Amino acid sequence: MYKLKENDFVCILTGAGISAESGIQTFRDGDGLWENHRVEDVATPEGFIKNPILVWKFYKERYAAALDAEPNPGHKALVDLEAMIPDKFFLITQNVDGLHRRAGSQNLVEMHGRLSACFCIKCAKHFQLTEINLKPALPHCPACGNYLRPDIVWFGEMPYHMDQILATIKKCTVFITIGTSGNVYPAASFMAEARKIGAVTITVNLEEPLNNQETQHFIKGKAGEILPGLVKDMTAELG
Ligand code: APR
Repeated sequence: MYKLKENDFVCILTGAGISAESGIQTFRDGDGLWENHRVEDVATPEGFIKNPILVWKFYKERYAAALDAEPNPGHKALVDLEAMIPDKFFLITQNVDGLHRRAGSQNLVEMHGRLSACFCIKCAKHFQLTEINLKPALPHCPACGNYLRPDIVWFGEMPYHMDQILATIKKCTVFITIGTSGNVYPAASFMAEARKIGAVTITVNLEEPLNNQETQHFIKGKAGEILPGLVKDMTAELG
């Protein structure tokens, strides 16, 4: 496997697969449903307008499940990698479960939002779920009284941190994709962007992702089993 050099800058993209071993279900498990719900019903702005109570119930359940889960050796291996190259590490996650943050990752962006937060559809003020009254079926903004919505980037909405993500990918020399099916854009295009500027590309996944043609090194298997050894091997020549 590729051995990191002193000047390498590592960019990583993770998806639902890295949290699978923490017991959180991935999105595309064959039935096209997310925890028994159609994606259109619970992960689109139209779904929220149609049935905000159902959407809130769904995300409160996802939040509770995420709080019950623990980071696994895959998340922890990325924390170890960052500790070895603190100024040359950038982690982009599509996951909303907060497990990378809880594991201890620092230079991290959550491009699809966070289960732990929400914002007001009127005044746009953000809150942690711990700061608001979650008892009503439709929680209200403590600042202006209007409806709150989960701080999740739904289909048809612009992912967060895109300027920072694209600028950082432009300077990376190694790009690693972990546990993502390559179905959802723009995340699915990041590896191609990295490849264009000559970065080494590596994928760790249970199966070949849709965009696997951009991968120079494909490692098939579970993130929690592969990443600890991979990080050790890749950092073996660092001082
Ligand atoms: N280790 C590595 N890969 C795994 C593991 C594992 N233990 N378990 C599953 N996988 C792989 C699957 O084979 C699949 O290719 O992880 C991938 C998960 O794919 P998806 O369920 O499509 O999740 P993701 O790519 O993160 O979805 C992207 O789509 O629904 C939206 O916004 C949501 O962020 C999400 C986005």
